[in-house]
Amino acid sequence: MAKRPARQFACRACGAVYPKWMGQCEACGEWNTLEEIAVEPLAASSPRASSKGRRVKLEGLEGMAAPPPRIRTSIEELDRVLGGGLVPASVVLVGGDPGIGKSTLLLQAACKLASKGERVLYISGEEAVDQIRLRALRLGVGQATLDLAASINVADIVATLEAEPDVRVVVIDSIQTMWLETVESAPGSVSQVRACAFELIRLAKRKGFSLILVGHVTKEGALAGPRVLEHMVDAVMYFEGDRGHQFRILRAAKNRFGATDEIGVFAMTDRGLEEVSNPSALFLAERRGNIAGSAVFAGLEGTRPVLLEVQALLAPKSGDNAPRRAVVGWDSSRLSMLLAVLETRCGVKLSGMDVYLNVAGGLKVAEPAADLAVAAALISAATGMPTSSGEVYFGEVGLSGEVRQVSQADARLKEAAKLGFDKAVLPRRIARGSARTKPPEGLTLREIGHLSDLVTADMEAE
Ligand code: TYD
Ligand code: MG
Repeated sequence: MAKRPARQFACRACGAVYPKWMGQCEACGEWNTLEEIAVEPLAASSPRASSKGRRVKLEGLEGMAAPPPRIRTSIEELDRVLGGGLVPASVVLVGGDPGIGKSTLLLQAACKLASKGERVLYISGEEAVDQIRLRALRLGVGQATLDLAASINVADIVATLEAEPDVRVVVIDSIQTMWLETVESAPGSVSQVRACAFELIRLAKRKGFSLILVGHVTKEGALAGPRVLEHMVDAVMYFEGDRGHQFRILRAAKNRFGATDEIGVFAMTDRGLEEVSNPSALFLAERRGNIAGSAVFAGLEGTRPVLLEVQALLAPKSGDNAPRRAVVGWDSSRLSMLLAVLETRCGVKLSGMDVYLNVAGGLKVAEPAADLAVAAALISAATGMPTSSGEVYFGEVGLSGEVRQVSQADARLKEAAKLGFDKAVLPRRIARGSARTKPPEGLTLREIGHLSDLVTADMEAE
């Protein structure tokens, strides 16, 4: 007798599966995101029903054929994050908030590819064909020989792709609008999103085209988020940025064919997304010199150095409340640590103050190398002394206040010199004759071993 399949519930935000419904997902902590999913037929069938397997062929590591060449989109910032271009028969998921510019980016990429003679299909479940044409016109890419379709029916899409010859790249915008008749739930549900993606991915692998899936990140949790698909695809990139800012950053979260620490920087203009090949200049464009509480961090995003402004603001805390620690673009526990180090090791008292910290431009910094720049901004805010406008900072700060080495100091220094900075504050070279090449022309180095060196110098200058 066939056993009644057990019920299963999956989280729309992260895809975790549970045998019973719960109010909060234990994996990601989101509330009210669990929904019932169809139990996969394989799990439901009894072991007796499974047919006997065939022997698979075993092979050695050697004897690989040359990998097929990558398909370059000619949008440098995108190609870099992809690891050098799209890989045939691979699947890339592009996630991001609604309205951040995913459709714009992919339409631009699709048009570029099409104008290079690649066969590209752009299938939208969100916009009518005329809307896409209008957008392409606005982007100034209207003449590209792109194949457009508006459809949400995956069976139709699969039938079309089966019949079309020489398809190289397919864009599906978005996976949450796609629908398979055989799955009994609404578009955007975990079951639909997974089943539709599975069908499309299988076809991409079989036919050898490169598949790009768009996935909206939804905070409200009405739709299944891209994380539900992360394990099914070859690469995951997130398109980020504040709606209030011009900058958009494409970041790889997973990449089977490349590094995940590269970023692509774009600016949203009235003619679509423009590549920003020199992000430092853009991030520093609005910086005003001579204001206390600001310091420039020479950071690294992937292989690329990026200069950023770190801003700190201190205000006396109100009443008996605990002081506020508000951070944008950096790690708040790292800030607490730095404040403790400044107070205990350097005698800079900030515990009676509300602290606001902001990485200008909307970039999120993950590097511990930013410690020194953050400390400089905090010290500058505390003393009211602006840091010199020609100065950059980098270095990790340890719990005893020591300033530690960080990777790729040379690349950071070079970028600083390129942008006209004349002084860098950085960790002291460790003795053992560690080789630092000569600093770039026009840049003087100030190597410090302890955070208190930064404090004393600033207090002395006062
Ligand atoms: P879109 O690509 O539709 O976002 P997504 O697909 O991620 O939901 O981008 C929509 C936003 O981008 C919209 O607010 C308008 C803006 N935009 C421009 O500023 N310039 C342009 O040329 C285009 C096409 C869009
Ligand atoms: Mg869109």
